[in-house]
Amino acid sequence: MPDTEVRTAIDALRADFRARLAAATTDRDLDALDAAFLSRKNGSVTALLKQVGTVPPDERREFGRLVNAFKTEIESAIEEKRGAVAATRRPAGAIDPTLGSRPIPIGRIHPLMRVRQEVEDIFARMGYEILEGPEVEDDYHNFEALNMPPDHPARDMQDTLYLGVPIAGGTWGAHRGRVPEAQVRAATLLRTHTSAMQIRYMKTFPPPIRLIVPGRVYRRDQLDLSHTPMFQQFEGLVVGRGITLADLKGTFEAMLRDLFGDVRVRLRPSFFPYTEPSAEVDISCQSCGGSGCGTCKHTGWLEILGSGMVHPAVFEAVGYDPDEVTGFAFGMGMERVAMLKYGVDDIRLFYENDLRFLEQFPL
Ligand code: DAH
Repeated sequence: MPDTEVRTAIDALRADFRARLAAATTDRDLDALDAAFLSRKNGSVTALLKQVGTVPPDERREFGRLVNAFKTEIESAIEEKRGAVAATRRPAGAIDPTLGSRPIPIGRIHPLMRVRQEVEDIFARMGYEILEGPEVEDDYHNFEALNMPPDHPARDMQDTLYLGVPIAGGTWGAHRGRVPEAQVRAATLLRTHTSAMQIRYMKTFPPPIRLIVPGRVYRRDQLDLSHTPMFQQFEGLVVGRGITLADLKGTFEAMLRDLFGDVRVRLRPSFFPYTEPSAEVDISCQSCGGSGCGTCKHTGWLEILGSGMVHPAVFEAVGYDPDEVTGFAFGMGMERVAMLKYGVDDIRLFYENDLRFLEQFPL
């Protein structure tokens, strides 16, 4: 192999080498390149060196010099590139502080929970205690002690969900024995109102009382715009010496203005077996300011809660002396408050939990 041919062969190899070196970006690429040119078995530079036998003896020295120089050139080029690749590699455990953070999914407070917190805050500021009660109740606490004896027509006012299996142990206390066992069994139920907790509380604690009971209640209702078989209420109970209807009205005015802003409050005579007198409480319609519109069915008023002065029969049932203490009580629907406050016209929306609905409420 004459000298010029050797140079041509080296030039061709060099061009190939440079192209592949430029394309190499990883240590693996460089290992492959090293093997392709320099491996003892099948590297192309090795193969060239092996052709030394075909070179005339007086040119062998020069041939060796040229090929070895090329070999050294390849080795140092690969070495240099290894350094460049290493420099771009991230050190182990490194972080990139310029990278944007991953978005954190933030939940929001459900509108009903918002209302609940707001109402609880209002009453907490007025010194009320906040307690929950059992959702599975018995006939005694839900009806009988609230002045609705077994044959009282008022029981027909609410369609009740009864449980097939009675509460273990029962809580029938005082009236056990007066009611046939079969009837006792049949009378474990999902509470139809939070009023049941009035009885539990008064049987446990002496007056004075300032109490709020938020919680779920159940009725045998079909789902529609304004009914769900499960909904939520706030029960309120205030008992002490000299509590009057004026305290009832003053409390509602303070609470409802705090909750709804600058509204007027009025009492309408009503009937509940556990209060006497009883009153339904309205606020002036916020949509029209009281002049009459679709929201208030052109009355200018929106019904917001049921209330009254605690009936003496209820005090007697819990062992309080109606000559000593008086009190007022009320029940307010949580969904009703939320619907009026947020302008929601379908109660089902609160329980479907469609994100398109929920995301309309602020964080
Ligand atoms: N329990 C009634 C209801 O579910 C609301 C209610 C009315 C509660 C008058 C009271 C009350 O405590 O005094 O509709």
